[in-house]
Amino acid sequence: MEAIASTPTWDILAKHKQELSKVHMKDLFAHDNKRFEHFSANHDGFLLDYSKNRMTQETLDLLLQLVDQAQLEHFVDDMFCGEKINATEHRAVLHTALRDSSNSSLIIDHNNVIDEIKQVLTHMEQASEKLRKEQWLGFSGRPINTIVNLGIGGSDLGPHMVVHALENAADEKLTAHFVSNVDGTAITRVLKKCNPETTLFIVSSKSFTTTETLANAKAARAWLLQHTTEDKLTPHLVAVTSKTDKALAWGFSEENVFKIWDWVGGRYSVWSAIGLPIAMMCGMDVFRDFLQGAHDMDKHFMSSEYKNNLPVLLALTGVWNHNFFHMPSNAILPYCEALKFFPDYLQQLEMESNGKSVDIYSREITEFQTGPVLWGAIGTNGQHSFHQLLHQGTARVWCDFILPIRAVNEVADQHKLLASNCFAQSQALMQGKTQQQAMQELIDSGMDHDHASILAPHKAIPGNRPSNTLLMDELTPHRLGSLIALYEHKVFTQSVIWQINAFDQWGVELGKKLATNLMPSLNGQETKGQDCSTQGLVRAFNK
Ligand code: F6P
Repeated sequence: MEAIASTPTWDILAKHKQELSKVHMKDLFAHDNKRFEHFSANHDGFLLDYSKNRMTQETLDLLLQLVDQAQLEHFVDDMFCGEKINATEHRAVLHTALRDSSNSSLIIDHNNVIDEIKQVLTHMEQASEKLRKEQWLGFSGRPINTIVNLGIGGSDLGPHMVVHALENAADEKLTAHFVSNVDGTAITRVLKKCNPETTLFIVSSKSFTTTETLANAKAARAWLLQHTTEDKLTPHLVAVTSKTDKALAWGFSEENVFKIWDWVGGRYSVWSAIGLPIAMMCGMDVFRDFLQGAHDMDKHFMSSEYKNNLPVLLALTGVWNHNFFHMPSNAILPYCEALKFFPDYLQQLEMESNGKSVDIYSREITEFQTGPVLWGAIGTNGQHSFHQLLHQGTARVWCDFILPIRAVNEVADQHKLLASNCFAQSQALMQGKTQQQAMQELIDSGMDHDHASILAPHKAIPGNRPSNTLLMDELTPHRLGSLIALYEHKVFTQSVIWQINAFDQWGVELGKKLATNLMPSLNGQETKGQDCSTQGLVRAFNK
């Protein structure tokens, strides 16, 4: 397979970018009053407006060619069929099977995984029903009303983000907490809010070896044992893992161990039993709706022409801004309080997936930029903190604005205020304000020419800064499932274009190993073979 950056299309795109560098987006809008129609796409309650990117029809056509050259179709088929596309871990990538209720057979390593998926969904349903009907009783006979998820990375970010997003659908009698950090403050603060008689801990770890999660599980167990005896712990401890043997050895009862599989990546696992807190808080109907929303986006991704395909179009705007305009960073800006944790969730999804630099074909280091730095926060809060840099700073960032059209909670006309701010931000980023305009405004406000000319350069805003706006009709469980799947497939499409493996994460291993190696030194043993900086830090810490 030809390296993508050696294809003629890549070359033509690079030259085409040079031509477009001299063009301001506001002129593109001035010359085409149908630009919104030309550069937007709809699907099932979603509208993606990508017209505020520095592109023309020629750009889009070339980018679409790139998708064909990367053979996206072939990779999509392989992923959905369960081929082992995560080659470095020799694993299939089948989070999409978890949300396909219509499928009756998918054989992986001689097992029909669809049967197993159905069994786990039934297991989840039984557990969540029992809890929601107040039949899940703690050691003193009182019903469980508080769940504490102990997990990190994909075993935390997904359920945490979704439970927060769907709070309006949750049972008000129930409370959920999420503890991820190994910093003891995290669990201490949560335990202060919990009653041991009515608290259930969900220990979520695909590998069941993650230090942070096991340390927090140990702390939770010790806390329970301050209030009850070993033989009464069973109803307070649940595990979600692919290593059921490890969970059983740890003391979880068989009935309380929920299975996941190695063909579900951690950052793609919210659709599995890792989503148990969602099912418990909101009910299994809501969870199934959420799965269905994702499945509907899967079908759109698989079957829509690329020029109307939301994940593909979003991926292409990213490639264009990142690889050709050399913008290293993408800000995710949901104008939706309920999506507060969505940027954090996407950070793992995108940066752990596409933070790679080895070409899957040649095994050489790629010659171009792969995954960008992704960050963000909800609007309008961000406007009062970092948007200044987006408008006038030197850092090069493109933005994704996300807004549900219907308010999650309607309060007077606040949702219109939210929407007007969202639209105004992308407009300001695109239009900017010339120094001349700034000067004129100052003079019109009564300022004399000398003072105005001192101030005008500070008030000028360059504009021409790209953004996408994704509208969704409302934030239902179904739409939330679709939204996440849209971004999953965007990440996948980009990985195929960049010719990297989106599904392994070897880069995180070294740090884990070094941390384990350092523990003896922090317990006072002599530090050998460490660099002098690390030795100095350990000495200072131990003192
Ligand atoms: O350290 C990275 C990572 O492996 C993620 O990919 C994963 O989501 C997280 O740790 C948690 O892993 P586990 O579910 O095995 O505890």
